[in-house]
Amino acid sequence: MKTVHLRDIDFAVEDEGAGRPVVLLHGFPLTHAIWERQIAALVPKQRVLAPDLRGFGQSGVTPGRVTMRQFADDLAAMLDALGVGEPVVLAGLSMGGYVAMQFFQAHRPRLGGLVLCDTRAAADTPQAAAARRETAVRVEREGPGVLAEAMLPKLFAPATLAGRPELVEQVRQMILGGDPRGLAAAARGLAERPDFTPLLPQIDLPVLVIVGSQDAISTPEEMGVVARSIPEARYVEIPAAGHMAPLEQPAAVGRAMAEFLDSVTASGRSTGS
Ligand code: MLT
Repeated sequence: MKTVHLRDIDFAVEDEGAGRPVVLLHGFPLTHAIWERQIAALVPKQRVLAPDLRGFGQSGVTPGRVTMRQFADDLAAMLDALGVGEPVVLAGLSMGGYVAMQFFQAHRPRLGGLVLCDTRAAADTPQAAAARRETAVRVEREGPGVLAEAMLPKLFAPATLAGRPELVEQVRQMILGGDPRGLAAAARGLAERPDFTPLLPQIDLPVLVIVGSQDAISTPEEMGVVARSIPEARYVEIPAAGHMAPLEQPAAVGRAMAEFLDSVTASGRSTGS
């Protein structure tokens, strides 16, 4: 991975290929590695940037609380540091999708399109936010095992959980490798993220909405509503996948993304023309 220095942290980013840029954002509490197969699929045709967000993977950690706005501003600074001036397509899984919507709100001119993958527009309920803050304290005290235990059963389709132990183990190790301070800071940021629902009708860009057909966290029903609220959205449901659709069905997700990226390029939206 490449390291770029942002204002207060070193920021790790996989930077491969050449041409029109697409940025892939991971979910919580994961790393850029969830996109490994899509990076390989997309790189022959374009530049793929897959960062570890602040506090995750190999990027620097700032303890306390990291907001979605901070994550979005980090991305803008990363693009500056890498000399990327043309509009990018931003693809985000779950928390990465929240960051993508926040990036639209704060840095709209830098975007040519969005991919919202297994994510939600709604904010946390007060109960969910309170539970996240409690989890943050526990993660700081007891380590990332707390998150692995609570989240793993919900991340996958039932058939993945039962039949693909190596994939479940890969994600468990990804979670256990996290820095407790970074994970807790992101959890607090997630708890106070805004409701992006009112933003959806204002998204004046091509958008691809992808959801695993058995996603129990951001359900197809909820993502269908997100897609219908965005003027230029297309909706793709990935069979036999849960919340980790890019890992559970990498080829189907890669195909949907490649087709979308081709259409955005053909429309001239990602070239600034
Ligand atoms: C994620 O995958 O990023 C998380 O499920 C997001 C969340 O907890 O809201």
